Amino acid sequence: MTPQQQALSIVRNEHITLIAVIDALKYVATDVAAGKLTPDYKLLWSILYYIEEFPERLHHPKEDAVLFPRLRARTADINATLDELERQHVNSQPALDRLKAVLGRMEADIPGAKAEFAERCATYAGFHRQHMALEEAVVLSKATEVFTDQDWVEVAQAFAQNKDPLRNGAVHDSDWFRQFYRHIVALVPEPWGVGERK
Ligand SMILES: [Fe+2]
Ligand SMILES: [Fe+2]
Repeated sequence: MTPQQQALSIVRNEHITLIAVIDALKYVATDVAAGKLTPDYKLLWSILYYIEEFPERLHHPKEDAVLFPRLRARTADINATLDELERQHVNSQPALDRLKAVLGRMEADIPGAKAEFAERCATYAGFHRQHMALEEAVVLSKATEVFTDQDWVEVAQAFAQNKDPLRNGAVHDSDWFRQFYRHIVALVPEPWGVGERK
């Protein structure tokens, strides 16, 4: 595999995994709000933890620190899109913080919390879907046009390491993320995961 293929496949695979987890959260939250599913708080908190550790702490920051600046250095063509994507990264953590706050209220049986949680999860999932689609349509295709071999080597290296660019250290290694992903899939009820429906 060339460094370009490696970099593109890591970014795209991260998007696929993130969308799978965030969509599972949306479907579970919707069924819980509709009274079709008993809330499994261990699962719901696990998903929020995964989202916090993976897209919020690793995926988006690596795009901000490595992929986007390198693109800005090569071309000014998509600066407006990069500005917008960076703004979306900034807004993503507060949206996750609100999900955590509402999940806490839901666990305390506060009236209306289940419906609010389902609504916020749906908004969060829609936002991420659009965000990642824009990255793939505009950012990855422009990178394919303008990046040098060395750019791809550096992007591939940055994405292959699960180093937190903000904290300068490893959070969890790739095996941990894979295992934790499997743990989530095992808990998510059918048909979105392989867990039992309760
Ligand atoms: Fe992003
Ligand atoms: Fe991304």
